[in-house]
Amino acid sequence: MKRCALILLAVSWLGAYAQQTRDLSGYDQPYRPQFHFSPRQHWTNDPNGVVYFQGEYHLFYQYNPFGDVWGHMSWGHAVSRDLLHWEELPVALREEDGIMIFTGSTVVDERNTSGFCLDAQPCLVAVYTGHTPEAGGRPALQTQNLAYSNDRGRTWTKYRENPVLNLKLSDFRDPDVFWSKAMRQWVMAVALPNDHKVLFYGSGDLKEWEKLSEFGPAGATGGQWECPTLVELPVDGTQRTRWVLKVGLNPGGLQGGSGEQYFIGTFDGTRFVNDNPSSTMLWTDYGKDCYCALEFNGIPRGEDAVMIGWMNNWQYADKLPTSPWRGQMTVPRSLGLQTFPEGIRLIQQPVTTLARLRDRHVEWRGTNVAALNQVLKGFNERSFELRTTVAGGVTFGWKLFATDGVYTEAGYDASRGELFVDRTHSGVTGFSPDFPARTMAPLASGNAPVSLTILADRSTIEVFAQGGRLAMTNLVYPPAGARAIEFYARGNQPSPIAVDLWDLRSGWAPLQ
Ligand code: FRU
Repeated sequence: MKRCALILLAVSWLGAYAQQTRDLSGYDQPYRPQFHFSPRQHWTNDPNGVVYFQGEYHLFYQYNPFGDVWGHMSWGHAVSRDLLHWEELPVALREEDGIMIFTGSTVVDERNTSGFCLDAQPCLVAVYTGHTPEAGGRPALQTQNLAYSNDRGRTWTKYRENPVLNLKLSDFRDPDVFWSKAMRQWVMAVALPNDHKVLFYGSGDLKEWEKLSEFGPAGATGGQWECPTLVELPVDGTQRTRWVLKVGLNPGGLQGGSGEQYFIGTFDGTRFVNDNPSSTMLWTDYGKDCYCALEFNGIPRGEDAVMIGWMNNWQYADKLPTSPWRGQMTVPRSLGLQTFPEGIRLIQQPVTTLARLRDRHVEWRGTNVAALNQVLKGFNERSFELRTTVAGGVTFGWKLFATDGVYTEAGYDASRGELFVDRTHSGVTGFSPDFPARTMAPLASGNAPVSLTILADRSTIEVFAQGGRLAMTNLVYPPAGARAIEFYARGNQPSPIAVDLWDLRSGWAPLQ
């Protein structure tokens, strides 16, 4: 009897323990990023419906529940309390009746405008593109649809009367919805990909949509426009704001394949007006691998807007040498705007919570490159944060994930005034002719020092230059033994170098 009770006690204790701790196995393959989200298995592309609600960040994402290439698109789902430790939940929205669940957004319906919320409590409403593939001579159809959840995103019901917006088009997708304080209604930005346009719609209840205006073509118009998102951001940290309209384009990105541009302007609740001539092209990221980034809805007032992107490029997305998953997200980035002589520009920085993952710190100040490299010899990590400042006018580079003849270089070419990342010698590159690349961004520092924040995470390198003025995101597939970091500088003058390097703990480990 006693023994039985003991066993029962042990079983229930183990059950409770298992509920509290997450199952973290399956997230430790050689290329598996440790502080970037990727699904345990199968394919992912764009982040979808990212929203903060009742203490949790929700990350939905384009997901194939059946394999590691694109198909059966559904919304996968993960939650986090700090944007770094993610827990994967069951698939939120599944392909059904031959209709795939394409990219979209999720809003918090605080006042039950939709009528979907129970017991006068706020609920979550997802607005997504339903994609019916072409078949039997019938063209593909893309429409906008709703689904809602009354249990903090754990289970979802598709709206009976879907679709809510149907222009009977094959390409009409990726709704980004938010609450407009100015107009006291919901606003949707949605892409007409082949026309290089973003259409704006307004609604009081998320069900009936009325066209407000359209924007485009403008800026870069290669390929298709996809994944628009509109966000209001403070300028220079003041009360003054400007709106940023970000648009993905594929192909036609700056570095080939998928890329993203942004426009800065005003939005009065109905119409976006570009501050710049429509020929101005501004790029959110100068690497090859940041696409369909989206801002979190529902971020508490006073906190920075946060954006997360798909770290990939359609040129080779289905060939990445990872298994049993394919696809991952960028680090979540806080957004702001800053005024420069050339105009107002987007600023992106890794979220400050990243500092909580910092472990061992190497701090170095000096001018002697050989002495610095001696110190770096002791550092053999594959997930780390490197913050460095180098005196102006100096050409320099960091060789990362290095071993005999293998390295990825990130640095600054003073003669060309260029930030660069070169992954032509980074390891496995042969799976696509579009993969080996040197990505560049204009950075005329004059005599000002050049400061870089580099986040490296097994198969990813994100560089943020000059406090986030430029971002450059690239995938790499180095051998597991490629762990060395080396610095070089060209020129005879000894120049001041400041280095702070931390290895970062895994986000797959339980939250501390
Ligand atoms: C962008 C995209 C979106 C679409 C989704 C389909 O990567 O093509 O426009 O909604 O992927 O998976």
